[in-house]
Amino acid sequence: MVEIATAVGTPIYIYSQAELQARAAAFVTAVPSANTLACYAVKANNNPAILGLLRQAGLGADVTSGGELFLALHADISPDKIIFSGVGKRRDEIEMALDAGIRALHVESAMELEAIAAIAGERQQVARIGVRVNPDIHAETHPYMTTGEKWHKFGVAPETAVTLLHAAREHPALHPVGLAAHIGSQITAVPPFVQSAHFLVQLADELAASGIRLEYVDVGGGLGIDYGDWRLEIGDSPQQSPGSNRQSPPIVEWVTAVTQPILAAGYGVVMEPGRSVVGPAGCLLTRLTYTKTQGGTQFAIVDAGMSDLIRPTLYDAYHPVLPVAEAPDGHAAERYTVVGPICETGDWLAKERALPPLRPGDLVAIMQAGAYGYAMASNYNGRLKPAEILVNGNRFTLIRKRQDYTHLLDGCLAPE
Ligand code: LLP
Repeated sequence: MVEIATAVGTPIYIYSQAELQARAAAFVTAVPSANTLACYAVKANNNPAILGLLRQAGLGADVTSGGELFLALHADISPDKIIFSGVGKRRDEIEMALDAGIRALHVESAMELEAIAAIAGERQQVARIGVRVNPDIHAETHPYMTTGEKWHKFGVAPETAVTLLHAAREHPALHPVGLAAHIGSQITAVPPFVQSAHFLVQLADELAASGIRLEYVDVGGGLGIDYGDWRLEIGDSPQQSPGSNRQSPPIVEWVTAVTQPILAAGYGVVMEPGRSVVGPAGCLLTRLTYTKTQGGTQFAIVDAGMSDLIRPTLYDAYHPVLPVAEAPDGHAAERYTVVGPICETGDWLAKERALPPLRPGDLVAIMQAGAYGYAMASNYNGRLKPAEILVNGNRFTLIRKRQDYTHLLDGCLAPE
């Protein structure tokens, strides 16, 4: 960490190649069936080098915009392993998917189905489509991360899914191939996923009875990771946000549980894991600028902030914080609230954490930051997006340069 920070500066995202590969491999090898495909949710982390590693490990891609489709194709992910999710695909994005010949567009409304049919028809193509159904299943997690309840914007009601798939079968420019659901993110219990898998299989079987035999059932992503680790804390238990601090099941357990009912019913399986592939493989390394104490709080002001990692601000998310150098006696002695330099009270990374006494220049690592970290970074407050590093054994490689100030002028034009 010290070597990397000295060579590349801070703040910086650092990823472990071995951890990424092991996690991807777990999704590919958990179940001995050629009929399963894990489409990595590119939104979790879209660094091209990481996408390349995941492709080599056998993952496909779940994309949610033309930009993500571009990145997945750029990483040489085979189009037949790419699915496109999202409620608002534009014409240009649909055209891009048809040009690439992806495995399927996952439709989320009747209007979208019509749009895809019209666009594919004009081009004399047949669009492979899946329908994303909203299974109305509650899963315990942060409210911003549940997606599969009936009042959410995602998917369509089961009866609408049936209607849309029948309409697709009748349309010469559409070919119905799949049924999908995604119940939410950072879910640490397996039963809601199994419930969703059974629900989808039942619906697929009903469709089969009426003559529509689907190729695959897609259970979405959402498997949680372990954000909290009490062993890192002294004194009181750390603050928690819902779903952030519970033990998650291992990947193999999750894959086995969700694929079983689908394979048993004779359908192929698609999964869309994001966080569980990359989250634990990355950290955000930051350097302490100052400390100050006021209002009874000791602040550690570091050079990373909500522009680099917005999860604490947005979801009250808990990320473990580790000092890079241990305290001489091995014990944490101080309590710090770790904040960034941004002009927002919400600009905090960790609250009330036990850490050794920190001095300017000390390095701390914000752990479990590989997912939805860099991917949600911004230039707010004129901040430059950090660099990204991949560590392989005892070597490290720069996989994205830190922005420089000229990036803040990207695309800007002077008025006439
Ligand atoms: N599939 C679909 C259709 C999704 O919307 C998502 C995530 C995934 C798969 C991947 O879910 P995962 O396996 O990563 O849980 N920004 C939030 C997470 C939002 C997740 C959005 N959708 C965070 O920082 O926790």
